[in-house]
Amino acid sequence: MTGPFNDVERSIFTAKEVLSEDYQPDQILERDEEIDEYRHALEDVLFGRTPQNIMLYGRAGLGKTAVTKYMMDALRDEAAKRPDADELFVHELNCNGQTVYSVVRTLVNELLPEGASEFPKRGLSTADAFEELYAQFDRRGGTHFVVFDEIDHLDDVDTLLYELPRARSIGHITNSKVGVIGISNNYTFRQGLSPKVKDTLMEAEISFSPYDASELRAILADRVDRAFVDGVCDDSAVARAAAIAAKDRGNARQAIDLLRVGGEVAKKRGDDGVNDSHIVEAQDLVQRGRLRNRIRDQTQHAQLLLETLAYLEGRGETPARSKTIKTRYERVADSHAVDPLTTLKSIQNHLSDLHMLGFLQRTDRNRGESGGRYYEYGLDLDPEIVLDIRDEIETERDR
Ligand SMILES: Nc1ncnc2c1ncn2[C@@H]1O[C@H](COP(=O)(O)OP(=O)(O)O)[C@@H](O)[C@H]1O
Ligand SMILES: [Mg+2]
Repeated sequence: MTGPFNDVERSIFTAKEVLSEDYQPDQILERDEEIDEYRHALEDVLFGRTPQNIMLYGRAGLGKTAVTKYMMDALRDEAAKRPDADELFVHELNCNGQTVYSVVRTLVNELLPEGASEFPKRGLSTADAFEELYAQFDRRGGTHFVVFDEIDHLDDVDTLLYELPRARSIGHITNSKVGVIGISNNYTFRQGLSPKVKDTLMEAEISFSPYDASELRAILADRVDRAFVDGVCDDSAVARAAAIAAKDRGNARQAIDLLRVGGEVAKKRGDDGVNDSHIVEAQDLVQRGRLRNRIRDQTQHAQLLLETLAYLEGRGETPARSKTIKTRYERVADSHAVDPLTTLKSIQNHLSDLHMLGFLQRTDRNRGESGGRYYEYGLDLDPEIVLDIRDEIETERDR
């Protein structure tokens, strides 16, 4: 019997997952300095000393998460061999879309004995959650590293970073030790912390710089061998993907995406190899995909504001003041049957965040002594693409 899948063969990819977001490479390339700094910051643990707190900075796609996973695995292996080291626990958490309460709750649940009922989602305070966390740390003993990935997404990060690193010195825990690792895409993260947190944290800082084209080529070459059928991926494809990503902020995730999508383009066209022309065609698709993810990461109201700005932009009504935007936003919210935010201040806060994240352009208007100062906003993206993406997200929601 012949069916629609009969003639499907491995033509381009042998292991496409090697080019996927959650694939963890066994080898980290081109990050020797960062790994060295990391090792220095972590090595106390091997001698049973109190761990250092560590903050990692660098834009998206520079290997912060991958290097951290690699270091934590290596540290766990090494600690197990060292007689002086305490038992080591590593807790890796992503803070995107979380609150301090929810991340502490997740930690507590990871530590609870088997069969114990979970820490409640609602009804208790953050202080209660911390208290339970300390009890569980001490019940388990050992050294606990807590990795807060994308920590800049947390609302009340001051509380977290004031509490946890001092837990032992102020006697909340006595039978265990804790080290905090924070990962931020945002270099200004530290500036935003309260003075008392800045004074007490005493963290080691490791910053990740953008990859250049030759470093990206090395990272890609390592994956090409495993991801593609032998000889299918041309050197020109690797070079082009590396060059495009190097020019646009040196992002390894983008370089890998280009290669994967370039392979898909070649496959769709029925070509038997991947070369630079496929990568060029992949560029637009990857860009849209990235933007879609970034928009999807925003809260509902931030997304509605982006949609509002896209309308205004399309009608030539930007730059616009927050008051104008608010009126228009209320209609957009209404069209999606969402209760709009009511205060101008909350709208302004969202606009300011969206500007910080690179979605919006902002112009500072100063009307002299009498008029005061205000901001006007425009969209820093293609409005049609934003509206398309919003449509897609809403359609998914309705399904
Ligand atoms: N030095 C490297 N060697 C191998 N793969 C890397 C390296 N740096 C980044 N990657 C890969 O690039 C992608 C993005 O890296 P990631 O660690 O998620 O970046 P970040 O956390 O800084 O946003 C991941 O797929 C990761 O495996
Ligand atoms: Mg990351």
